[in-house]
Amino acid sequence: MAQDNPQRKVFAPWNDAAATPMIRIEGVTKRFGDFTAVDNVSLDIHKGEFFSLLGASGCGKTTLLRMLAGFETPTEGRIFIDGADVSLVPPYERPVNMMFQSYALFPHMSVEQNVGFGLRQDGLAKAVIKDKVAALLDLVQMSQFAGRKPHQLSGGQRQRVALARSLAKEPKVLLLDEPLGALDKKLREKTQLELVNIQDRVGITFVMVTHDQDEAMTMSSRIGIMNAGAITQVGTPVEIYEYPTSRYVADFIGAANMFDATVKTCADGRLVAACPELRHDLVVQHEGTLAAGSPVTIIVRPEKMVVQREKPADGMDWASGTIADIAYLGDVSTYHIRLASGHVVQVLQTNLRHTGEQKLTWEDEVFLVWHPANALALTR
Ligand SMILES: Nc1ncnc2c1ncn2[C@@H]1O[C@H](COP(=O)(O)OP(=O)(O)O)[C@@H](O)[C@H]1O
Ligand SMILES: [Mg+2]
Repeated sequence: MAQDNPQRKVFAPWNDAAATPMIRIEGVTKRFGDFTAVDNVSLDIHKGEFFSLLGASGCGKTTLLRMLAGFETPTEGRIFIDGADVSLVPPYERPVNMMFQSYALFPHMSVEQNVGFGLRQDGLAKAVIKDKVAALLDLVQMSQFAGRKPHQLSGGQRQRVALARSLAKEPKVLLLDEPLGALDKKLREKTQLELVNIQDRVGITFVMVTHDQDEAMTMSSRIGIMNAGAITQVGTPVEIYEYPTSRYVADFIGAANMFDATVKTCADGRLVAACPELRHDLVVQHEGTLAAGSPVTIIVRPEKMVVQREKPADGMDWASGTIADIAYLGDVSTYHIRLASGHVVQVLQTNLRHTGEQKLTWEDEVFLVWHPANALALTR
């Protein structure tokens, strides 16, 4: 818990209206012929952030990243880095580096030579380069492999060398395009934490492209969700998961049960909606106003529902159905409940078997119950 650890400071520069963002993307569009790859994106990314662009393959993430690097020029809009308009500045003159995948290491050079390459090009003194490279290898825990060639390294080690090399010239911003894509699952999870630790230590702003939701959730200060070239929502991992602002995001991040409904009343933080599918009303805690008659989608995450045999207490929301499937995963089970409408709802339950709870099984008639505070009403 953050508040239990005094070392852990609250980091939320995006809430500071006076802060100058490290990166400002202003109405940026990129067209290839008549195809729009990036569609009017505006976004601020702050100093020290680990920002992820997350979205399905082909949604424009790499194109946006390449415009930050200077490898592509926006068709419309402008890009500022550290206050300066870089829209027309070539890649090598931007205070930005892009980390490519491991194959970009020079095969004939040692680890040490690879990491020091850019510094030698800049004509830094030998002793300075030596010290810098040593510090970088220490940072990525590769000191003992300084003399090896890339082919003598594992995939994870090569990735760390590539990271050290891309940090050598101390860019203000490091861009990473699917940096862990080549690693297997276990190594990938370990490397995610390492990368976050390194970013925290160097304090450089990282912008990462990924299509992996878990990766974005674990690593990022904030996430920008992209869909068809546009950014549909920007927020911290908690905001994105707990408060998606659209059906698309609710469905893309985690699992979401959705019920179509129509607003009956909406006042004082309480929305009542008729749900034809359930043949009763649903209540949702909801700030803001929605007119009676507005269509809404009520969203409930699987872990925020409980399966039980008893009819729920007043004040709770509910649905009823039969258990169509149970997936036992040890710590948790996923129940698939078929409602009278045919709609199958997912519920995640922690397995507390040892407390002697009654066992539910296939074809049981059950109630799904949730609290109005644990649902969301979305209009798009
Ligand atoms: N140089 C290019 N010429 C034409 N189309 C391109 C070019 N680069 C990317 N695209 C198209 O733009 C879309 C977005 O691509 P990209 O940014 O690579 O997506 P992502 O990284 O999210 O998978 C894709 O449909 C891709 O085919
Ligand atoms: Mg890509």
